[in-house]
Amino acid sequence: MRTYLAGLVFLFIIPGSFAQSVKNNTHYSVQKTITCGKGAVVSAHPLASMAGLQILKQGGNAVDAAIATQLALAVVYPAAGNIGGGGFMVAHLSNGQNISIDYREKAPAKASRDMYLDKDGNAQLDLSQYGHLASGVPGTVAGLFASLKYAKLPFVKLIQPAIDLAEHGFPITAGQAASFNSNKKEFLEQNKAAIAFVKAEKWKAGDLLIQTDLANTLKRIRDLGQKGFYEGETARLIVEEMQRGNGIISPDDLKSYEAKERTPLSFDYKGHQVISMPLPSSGGIIIEQMLKMIEPRNIAAMKFQTAGSVQLMTEVERRAYADRAEFLGDADFVNVPVKTLVSREYLEQRMKDYEPGKAGNSKITGAGMIRESEETTHLSVIDAEGNAVAVTTTLNDSYGSHTVVTGAGFILNNEMDDFSVKPGVPNMYGALGNDKNAIAPGKRMLSSMTPTIVLKNNKPCLVVGTPGGTTIPTSVFQTLVNIIEFNMTAIDAVNKPKFHHQWSPDRIDVEKDFPADVIQQLEAMGYTVKPRESIGRTELIQVLGKKIIAVGDKRGDDDARGY
Ligand code: DON
Repeated sequence: MRTYLAGLVFLFIIPGSFAQSVKNNTHYSVQKTITCGKGAVVSAHPLASMAGLQILKQGGNAVDAAIATQLALAVVYPAAGNIGGGGFMVAHLSNGQNISIDYREKAPAKASRDMYLDKDGNAQLDLSQYGHLASGVPGTVAGLFASLKYAKLPFVKLIQPAIDLAEHGFPITAGQAASFNSNKKEFLEQNKAAIAFVKAEKWKAGDLLIQTDLANTLKRIRDLGQKGFYEGETARLIVEEMQRGNGIISPDDLKSYEAKERTPLSFDYKGHQVISMPLPSSGGIIIEQMLKMIEPRNIAAMKFQTAGSVQLMTEVERRAYADRAEFLGDADFVNVPVKTLVSREYLEQRMKDYEPGKAGNSKITGAGMIRESEETTHLSVIDAEGNAVAVTTTLNDSYGSHTVVTGAGFILNNEMDDFSVKPGVPNMYGALGNDKNAIAPGKRMLSSMTPTIVLKNNKPCLVVGTPGGTTIPTSVFQTLVNIIEFNMTAIDAVNKPKFHHQWSPDRIDVEKDFPADVIQQLEAMGYTVKPRESIGRTELIQVLGKKIIAVGDKRGDDDARGY
């Protein structure tokens, strides 16, 4: 067990006395990895992983733990954990069933295709990215209740750690203090009333964050269920907040929101069954495309992060992301040729112009031809019965729209920016889109979130996912290739430098610790390579025989717990 200190004086919270420890404001440490035998939880914050672990130990299954962890993240990780956003859950149950639950935000009924264009037709991205008009109808709470069907423990038990953490407060990490300080301006711009994340002096590591309004909202959800959010007091507060800032979410939008159970996407990769999220996520389709494009090409022989293997992965990323921009959108609203997009014949055709040693070009290699009628967070959980759950949930950007619902204490998402506001205008992740992902009332905006489970012999062997906007599918893809093809350990597969190509812009983005000699070789092939901030925060669980290895990404306060 390796322990990483996040810059505070820490004591461990004794498992089992979680709520008491929170009440006593006990400090905690960030634990990056654990090897154990029964169950594990990995998430973006130690207190959330601990909440999930406590639920496993109390007899809950992986779905119970995933619900409790998400609720705790809504309190201890306000940058992305949420009840004002949306997400996806992918699960493999010990009875063999694979499920996925879609609780992506929806465009409000008053939304319209050109709502972010000014009178001259120019895109106003400040409106799709900041403030009240940027929010889609939140889906998270409906998603939690839809997941409850597969859980064992009563909801009151699952939400209690979150209520304790909000009511009594918890000491923030150094990273969170820096993040609150650097977002102060946006918070003040978007909120007239006082909010928990802003105070006169600078935040520092160890300061207590108490969220009384949020605790009361969580109590309404505990007492009234889904209606405690989508109707009554909380709904009234959301609608009042909308009126304060020209937002358009109505009582009807909230009341009619439904999470949807969907058939998960499932495919074979060299004897592994990969289970991932279907539309409205692009993630599952993209990783299926990318894995199938490398499958016939013996990437293992090329070795990890050589110019050759990076080039191959870059070229499959280019092609998959070009298809994303052209063909993908909410399949409840538009026709998407999914079968063709993931067929081996089509993908081989797509790779016809791949030339080893020579950079491709996005002007030449666009989407295929088909003719036919920062901020998000991921958690991975596994339990002793063999249930595995992968959940990615999001407010979109860090702290979403930066708008806190006055009196209700939670942040609203800015997910509307994931729609294509105008063809040819990139969203905040540089993603392009067209009609397929245009705004329409009630439609879900296209996502990149890729919660994924890999089975071998019908048993979970990997549970994985990450935040990172459009880099999400490539991070999941690279983590899978690192393990399945390059035989890497789970820790290395998560922490080794990642790279990303998304067709447009035509450029390979690399993390700062990406090897310099490989960059030079790629540039010699004709690629533009650009160093950037970290890519993703991957949370991985690997099962090797009876051993569970859980790894939280080195790139944040991410934390792995198990027993
Ligand atoms: O659904 C999506 O694809 C985006 N809203 C995800 C945003 C994200 O990952 C930001 N995190 N860094």
